[in-house]
Amino acid sequence: MASARTEPTFCRGTHTLSVPMELFRENCRRLSEQLTEKLKQNKDVTDRADGAYVLLQGGESTTRYCSDNEPIFRQESYFHWAFGVEEPDFYGAVEVSTGRTILFAPQLPASYGVWMGKLLTCEDFRVRYGVDEVHFVPDIAKVLKEKNPSVILTLHGLNTDSGKYSQEAAFDGIGEFKVDNKLLHPVITECRVFKTDLELNVLRYVNRISSEGHKEIMKGMRPGLYEYQAESVFCHYVHFNGGLRNMSYTCICGSGDNGSILHYGHAGAPNSKLINNGDMCLFDMGGEYYCYTSDITCSFPANGKFTQKQAGVYNAVYKASRAVIDAIKPGVNYADMHKLAERAMLSALKELGLLQGEVEDMMAVRLGAVFMPHGLGHFMGIDTHDVGGYPEGTKRIDEPGLRSLRTVRNLEHRMVLTVEPGCYFIDQLLDEALANTDQAKFLNRGQIDDHRGFGGVRIEDDVAVTEDGVEVLTCVPRTVEEIEALMEQGRQLPQRPLPQETKGN
Ligand code: GLY
Ligand code: MN
Ligand code: MN
Repeated sequence: MASARTEPTFCRGTHTLSVPMELFRENCRRLSEQLTEKLKQNKDVTDRADGAYVLLQGGESTTRYCSDNEPIFRQESYFHWAFGVEEPDFYGAVEVSTGRTILFAPQLPASYGVWMGKLLTCEDFRVRYGVDEVHFVPDIAKVLKEKNPSVILTLHGLNTDSGKYSQEAAFDGIGEFKVDNKLLHPVITECRVFKTDLELNVLRYVNRISSEGHKEIMKGMRPGLYEYQAESVFCHYVHFNGGLRNMSYTCICGSGDNGSILHYGHAGAPNSKLINNGDMCLFDMGGEYYCYTSDITCSFPANGKFTQKQAGVYNAVYKASRAVIDAIKPGVNYADMHKLAERAMLSALKELGLLQGEVEDMMAVRLGAVFMPHGLGHFMGIDTHDVGGYPEGTKRIDEPGLRSLRTVRNLEHRMVLTVEPGCYFIDQLLDEALANTDQAKFLNRGQIDDHRGFGGVRIEDDVAVTEDGVEVLTCVPRTVEEIEALMEQGRQLPQRPLPQETKGN
């Protein structure tokens, strides 16, 4: 952290990005401006709009079940967006009329100083986070009372990805204030959808480091490694080189048929397979820096050389990916982008001989969802599946594939999304399609059966919508030739020593 005399920043060393606390002050100012407008339109919330305060509760410290094992704390995302506080158990307030920020820090026992490090004062936190005031949590009611708020706006709303509700701020004495929990959530969520220049800088950085982590794996990939060893290379690389301590989500490192398991890598399938010669790898990994995430998938052959069959499927997905990236600009609809990806992929699979018939007729029976059951992508920011995909008034499209889309919005400047078309050979879906008379007529059964066990290909890039197109934040090799060239380059490097076989245990 910077000293008191310099602009406060978050930084993990001179080789990493310095993030100014101005990022959060700007976010709070934007929020205040939007809320001021909303309060003018909603006079029932308060007749004294200049007396409104936002109150957010930060994430809480926890321990593992009944033990005292404390997992690394990761801040709650709305709270991080507004304040950038790294520690648990804080509250934060924003005076809507001015954008002034107030933090409430937990009052920690003296023993903290012995076991956890020096106890910081309110002034220490004020300087560290560049806010206007800091008090201790037990004083929230007293401090707010002195400010005589006309209304306290708390956060209550649904996360449309998880189906869970946000944590609404509560403190001893809140009953003595007028509280509104409806106005804030849609407004702050909409603010999070549009990234500022300072936020885009962090997203660029985290994408660059995570992209390099993927390249490090490709260079070191050899049949005979375990999937989790590839995962460990990524985690080490992004932490060591970029200060990315947390992953944005559980690493998905599927090889061979595991590439068709969309959420592979979980506790029941923990990236534990031996990678074989001839396997395709589908590695979906992203690190996060100061809670800003990345979400990148690379697909490549374990031995560094695509077979004709692997290149065929890969290029079908690549065509879908590039068609979408070329088409994205403000005004295009994301569900239309999903369909564009499906059309490109179905045409390519037809050219390969896996499908037959007219692509538009395949679209009419939703054949694309047999090969790509997930949505084309999602907003990305402080959450990997970032908020705001379905604001009030928008509805999911209840059709295979499309219903999994995490947004169906028209795209606008400063939105950040993933573009992640994929093609998977999932026995269950193939069997269902072959048993479905509307769909089976398009499937060349011999070719389809020949691809069972192939796994899958996904190409996932993170993009920022610009004024007239798109900025691709991810920077990894994408064509067959680029991937083979990088993997060949890696083969010239000394191989990472492998653990030796243990005997007798
Ligand atoms: N890695 C999670 C996703 O692609 O959405
Ligand atoms: Mn994704
Ligand atoms: Mn992903």
